[in-house]
Amino acid sequence: MEKLSDELFDLLKSAVPLLLEWYGVSKRALPWRGAEDPYRILVSEIMLQQTRVEMVKGYYPAFLEKFPTAAALAAASEEDVLKAWEGLGYYSRARNLKKAAEIIAKSGFPRDFKGIRALPGVGDYTAGAILSIAFRKPCPAVDGNVLRILTRLLKSEENIDEPKTRKLFAEALRAVYPEEAGDFCQALMELGAIVCVPNGEPLCPRCPWEKICRAHLDGQEASFPVRSEKKERKIEKLFVLVLEREGKYALEKRAEGGLLAGLWQFPCFGEEPPDFGKVACTKRAKHVFTHIEWQMTGRLVRAREFFPQFVWADREEIREKYAVPSAFKAFFEWIGQD
Ligand code: ADE
Repeated sequence: MEKLSDELFDLLKSAVPLLLEWYGVSKRALPWRGAEDPYRILVSEIMLQQTRVEMVKGYYPAFLEKFPTAAALAAASEEDVLKAWEGLGYYSRARNLKKAAEIIAKSGFPRDFKGIRALPGVGDYTAGAILSIAFRKPCPAVDGNVLRILTRLLKSEENIDEPKTRKLFAEALRAVYPEEAGDFCQALMELGAIVCVPNGEPLCPRCPWEKICRAHLDGQEASFPVRSEKKERKIEKLFVLVLEREGKYALEKRAEGGLLAGLWQFPCFGEEPPDFGKVACTKRAKHVFTHIEWQMTGRLVRAREFFPQFVWADREEIREKYAVPSAFKAFFEWIGQD
């Protein structure tokens, strides 16, 4: 396997104490920081996959209040877990987290990489983060944010969309991991989140690496990281019908296996839908997923009857019981919810 040159490795090594010192004074107070219980750390890391810290902050305390232990989550119904996850997106994470909790409740929390990596929904990054943060083991967690800060620091032209780049930097990090494994892991994430930011210009005057970052010293921050070209998102057109009758609304469950599998939605149609009653309002909205964009035409329809192919629920029941993904948020106003 490729390795960093000695020169770059030394630069990376010198960056470690600077980063730790900066993290000590600059880190944000986040609800999962200071947690010792590996289950809590697992919950935070799963929530933080592909989801912004600001968003997770609002869900994490409520989720743990509902499911304070792995045993509590293991014993809960999948519907309840999805409801607690409603709006966070990427719902297979919630299902996997529950499956992981079942394993943990039965056999205890695994304490080595192999065991943690084998939990459903845990990839290399999350396993590395849990080992570093919960067990203080020197196990790198490398995602796009970490690759961005490292390729800028070293002015590395490795393509970060190639798996070998991830391996290269993971091995380099493993070799410089300090005692304070959890702090180091989170300091790398923190620098990528609040200084060497993913969108827009990095805030170099606040960076502990300002004087050693090769991309910055050459004024070329914007040229890193090097990436492959992005694929265009597929566009899907969708008719969304909010069918109302006597204060109840029609819901249907999405098919298992696909996008937003098993969650609830207002009846959706890929083409002009059948006539269910009188159209009261129309509204367009769009929702962007990782690989697909939904262009939605929503209609509020006064339904002619309680069409039996749907479940009918009033707004309280929808709020309490049915997990409806935020892709449909634009139409919630029609049922008096925001
Ligand atoms: N992103 C992933 N894990 C994180 C953590 N523990 N703190 C902040 N951001 C993160």
